[in-house]
Amino acid sequence: MSMNTQGRPTAPGEAADATHPTFTGNKALMIEEPLIYEIGRPDVTGVDLDDDAETETHLGGLERSADPDLPGLSEPETMRHYVRLSQKNYAIDAGLYPLGSCTMKHNPRLNEKMARLPGFADIHPLQPVSTVQGALALIDLLAEGLKELTGMPGIAMSPKAGAHGELCGMMAIKAALEARGDARAIVLVPESAHGTNPATAALLGYKVEAIAARDDGTVDVAAVKEKLSDQVAAIMLTNPNTCGLFERDIIEIAEAVHDAGAFFYCDGANLNAILGRVRPGDLGVDAMHINLHKTFSTPHGGGGPGAGPVVLSEALMPFAPLPWVVAPTSQGEGGHTLVEHVESAGGATPFGRMTAFHGQMGMFVRAASWMLSHGADGMRQAAEDAVLSANYIRASLQDLMSLPFGERPCMHEVLFDDSFLNDTGVTTLDFAKAMIDEGYHPMTMYFPLVVHGALLIEPTESESKASLDLFVATLRDLAMAASRGETGRFAEAPFHAPRRRLDETRAARQPVLRWTPPAPTEPEPKRDAAE
Ligand SMILES: Cc1ncc(COP(=O)(O)O)c(C=O)c1O
Repeated sequence: MSMNTQGRPTAPGEAADATHPTFTGNKALMIEEPLIYEIGRPDVTGVDLDDDAETETHLGGLERSADPDLPGLSEPETMRHYVRLSQKNYAIDAGLYPLGSCTMKHNPRLNEKMARLPGFADIHPLQPVSTVQGALALIDLLAEGLKELTGMPGIAMSPKAGAHGELCGMMAIKAALEARGDARAIVLVPESAHGTNPATAALLGYKVEAIAARDDGTVDVAAVKEKLSDQVAAIMLTNPNTCGLFERDIIEIAEAVHDAGAFFYCDGANLNAILGRVRPGDLGVDAMHINLHKTFSTPHGGGGPGAGPVVLSEALMPFAPLPWVVAPTSQGEGGHTLVEHVESAGGATPFGRMTAFHGQMGMFVRAASWMLSHGADGMRQAAEDAVLSANYIRASLQDLMSLPFGERPCMHEVLFDDSFLNDTGVTTLDFAKAMIDEGYHPMTMYFPLVVHGALLIEPTESESKASLDLFVATLRDLAMAASRGETGRFAEAPFHAPRRRLDETRAARQPVLRWTPPAPTEPEPKRDAAE
């Protein structure tokens, strides 16, 4: 879209940039959209109220003395405004979304239909338990399914995202250590970890010590053993790790951690790759969050509302946060109940609560729907297809793009570094921006930090071969253009997006979160006709 140097559409008469000398800001059928406050006028409304409508209020003097400062739009203007805004959102429903580590997989419409059933959608967490038996049964069913799939005996359903789940699991670990009078100070985190891992440990007051990656991208057991001491509370390890590799020494690491009296927190964000193939409980994991959006296909909530249940080992179960659902006895007596207070926790010592209620119902329904509609075989196949897709991309690109850890097969995501761009004048950022011009959301860039200029691609199981082939062809074309020195295609990309290059550092450091109206302009002085 055509922008002036301030990044807004050019106004009539104002100089536009040389590439797109238009003034609307529109490009092809992508229509520039101002803020609603910039287009709304106080005198316009989408509803015609009868002039003679009853104006008497019953607010006893509390009624407004001035009009609310709301933008007025007609109904078609309102429709267009919101439809245009929705079209600015790139989504998995619009195209392949190769963000590594984020697992942008298709959200089946069946799940949406189930989540909208009034028995799930129209209930309130404060309703009497006897009136929400179906919802509690669903939470219990999902909880049991997650425990079975992970081979873990306990679960906390209430955390609202992966990072929230990490906090929950680490709080359970902290509570368990304190309960045995063994408060410890250090948490070990491999260099390749997602930033939320060290952030969680630091938030709980732990000192974070990094474990270097081996040349093959995995965690070095010897380095872990060297760091273990009676001051280490836990290790936070991701498996498969953020380089897309399975940690082959995970059992040895878990045993060493337990021998040192510490706990093994597993970041389960990548469960998508091993679902139905490996049970983390069999690997010695004590706590692990499951990002329902990454594995069980619930939508990413743009920061919320999500769900990040945490599975727990026998040792951590007593510290699980309130509340939790209890199933009826095997004779089916009594219906489902909710444990809301320590007094009714049957001797357990929950560390507290993560949220007011028992979790994110809408996501639970979607995840349970995915689980039931796939069945055990279907879930295993989803994991296998996710791994197959990533390896197909790896094999299709490895002659043009550089693999930091050799040609070892990957799990559900494939990691390239930027050495294939050496001496081309093109950076990882340029390459990713040029993908936008080809109609693709870029892959994850510069993460994980253990490789230079990382490009992390996660296609997921939900892409067809035709879709993968088109993606591969696009990346091959770009990689060849870079090697031919066609820097013009990259340096200022994207050329065809609504916005060009943004100052991302400034956007992160000085976010402008509130629109302020322009200062009112002085009215033009009236002029005499004779002047
Ligand atoms: C490896 C890993 N750990 C933790 C998280 C945090 O999960 P969430 O975004 O649900 O808070 C992510 C998210 O991308 C992740 O990829």
